[in-house]
Amino acid sequence: MGTNTELLHGYPVVDPYTGAASIPKYQTSTFNQQASGEHQEYSYTRFGNPTVSALEEAIKKLEHAAYGLAFSSGMAAISNVLMLLKAGDHAIFPHEVYGGTCQFAGEILPNYGIETSFIDMSSIEELEAAIQENTKLIYIETPSNPLLKVSDIKKIVQVAAKHKLLTVADNTFMTPLNQRPLDLGVDLVVESMTKFINGHSDVVAGLIATNDTRLYEKLYLFQKNFGGILGIEEAWLVLRGMKTLGLRMAKSVENAEKLAEFLSQHPKVSKVYYPSLAGHDNATVQKSQAKNGGAVLSFELKDEADLEKFIKNMKVPIYAVSLGGVETIISHPASMSHACLTAEERAEQGVTDGLLRMSCGIEDVEDLLADLEQALK
Ligand SMILES: Cc1ncc(COP(=O)(O)O)c(C=O)c1O
Repeated sequence: MGTNTELLHGYPVVDPYTGAASIPKYQTSTFNQQASGEHQEYSYTRFGNPTVSALEEAIKKLEHAAYGLAFSSGMAAISNVLMLLKAGDHAIFPHEVYGGTCQFAGEILPNYGIETSFIDMSSIEELEAAIQENTKLIYIETPSNPLLKVSDIKKIVQVAAKHKLLTVADNTFMTPLNQRPLDLGVDLVVESMTKFINGHSDVVAGLIATNDTRLYEKLYLFQKNFGGILGIEEAWLVLRGMKTLGLRMAKSVENAEKLAEFLSQHPKVSKVYYPSLAGHDNATVQKSQAKNGGAVLSFELKDEADLEKFIKNMKVPIYAVSLGGVETIISHPASMSHACLTAEERAEQGVTDGLLRMSCGIEDVEDLLADLEQALK
């Protein structure tokens, strides 16, 4: 089955109870019990709900996973996964990990006696050197945010296997259509469905996918008892949004490729970060593990003083936090996603004040190119 057919027919898309062509919103907190003590598939919505279950079936299909779990946000999915760690454990994260994950790992996990290190995950030598006796988990996010640094998933999985460590990959930027970490041997995938999977900038949601029964059972217990479940309305919206994921992603990636090319040749732009652009540090690794460079790119203006004017002059994209919507979104990492870091930490990562990130939408590329051209002028 091709991707677009699978997104429309590859999982239960018709309501098994009524035949409705769109899985209904089972807007209920509880379910009438047929008899006392008898097991029923659904008893209470925090334990399971048919609309959310339909989405979890879709997640399994998308991620090539045996198990899928939906959460109230990407951060709910990520924090639940990190709570698999115990007091005394150590986990390794990339320097450029998403800001919320960075705060959770750096400020919350230590309260539970869990140690964390932040390294350049694109360097296998640095990874090997960071492994301690109590290391239990390696966290991957590739390409990274906002500099689109690529880490070699297969090599990291090999290192993890050698030391019997758990691997977790945040696949939000690439989506399962363009990169499938579980197929590359990663144990757990997390994603913010707020971004490309839902795709319409109108829902906050997250997922976990795995092939490991033991991990799934623990995480289901967490989902139920931490209670970070996805709401019914949101699950329905994501189910609707993901039907067009293939078409949206293809157009967004095509736009990103053209815009990256354009920006890389513009005299007012000093640097473009896009993983499949010729000359990108790890374009070969990206090619070996992903179908393309994705739909997110970053760039720096030659003159930082032009930044505010440039942003004001851009008419088509919205200027906002977040990514992965049908509309192009420009953001300023230093004051948005990476504002929680100190100026020194940002400088260490290469997140300059003149850096802009662009999540490419599905607009006609001619309009985006013309808009960039006039704003740069
Ligand atoms: C790479 C990445 N992971 C996780 C998250 C967190 O997702 P959410 O906002 O749905 O909690 C984000 C949000 O921007 C993100 O960019």
